[in-house]
Amino acid sequence: MKVLIATEKPFSPIAVEGIKKIVEEAGLEFALLEKYESKAQLLQEVADATALIVRSDKIDAEVLAAAKELRIVVRAGAGYDNIDLAAATEKGICVMNTPGQNANAVAELVFAMLLFAVRNRFNGKAGTELGGKTLGLDAFGNVGRNVARIAKGFGMPVVAYDAYCPAEVFEANGVKQVESPEALFREADVVSLHIPSTPETRGSIGRALVGSMRKGGILVNTARQDVINEPELLEVLQERTDLRYLTDIALSCDAEARELLGDRYFATPKKMGAQTAEANVNAGLAAARQIVGFLRDGITKFQVN
Ligand code: 3PG
Repeated sequence: MKVLIATEKPFSPIAVEGIKKIVEEAGLEFALLEKYESKAQLLQEVADATALIVRSDKIDAEVLAAAKELRIVVRAGAGYDNIDLAAATEKGICVMNTPGQNANAVAELVFAMLLFAVRNRFNGKAGTELGGKTLGLDAFGNVGRNVARIAKGFGMPVVAYDAYCPAEVFEANGVKQVESPEALFREADVVSLHIPSTPETRGSIGRALVGSMRKGGILVNTARQDVINEPELLEVLQERTDLRYLTDIALSCDAEARELLGDRYFATPKKMGAQTAEANVNAGLAAARQIVGFLRDGITKFQVN
């Protein structure tokens, strides 16, 4: 039985070695497809795979149809909006994620981007500090909780909105719960997005919310690009010249945004929130162990379909 890592954006070598060891020690065959440049390569490699480990790689109905032997796909990471769950379910393929495994890496990137911005990209001019500024977290899952933990070290009061999180979790983390996204955007100096991409969240961050931010507000997105209503965001950022947008997932109108907004817009060249050796090891090894557990013992913990 072949376990295939198919990652357009590769794991660190140490993570690949660790995955290989777990797979081979379980008596399974290990295969690696990294930095592939065409879907045709992916379609060819998945043909005889029993299990698949992916990152943000698009696993659509065509890929699943080509994977005749496939029994399980593990998304090494949190968000599984890149996988066609309905098509997988129809084919009886189990889909899992590895929640929490890369959360600290993403949380650290939030602060890397924030410091870069408030210190004027280290250009020598006087900047501002994060201490004392209120941080608003839109969703309080694994990443949001790590961001809150780090924010305390900076002396930032933290407020959070999450319709699915029990009140005691906010309390236990020393975070003030707010009742709506509207209240969150109004109350915070910095808003950090940690919502998944779902039919409810897609395009939900637009004029109304961003336009209600405090003077000098900063919006940080390490979640997903499609939660943003891009035309509205671009408009509101042109009207409110005090606001900034920092993102790990460039706007589709990236060049235009750079031109129009200058230093008030920053996007990483490639999504890199989870791109650390530690996160790759955590998520990659968890994915390998989940596959072995599923194929050997039928364990379906972390199944999402
Ligand atoms: C996730 O959902 O876990 C993050 O967005 C990381 O995505 P990546 O594996 O493509 O870096």
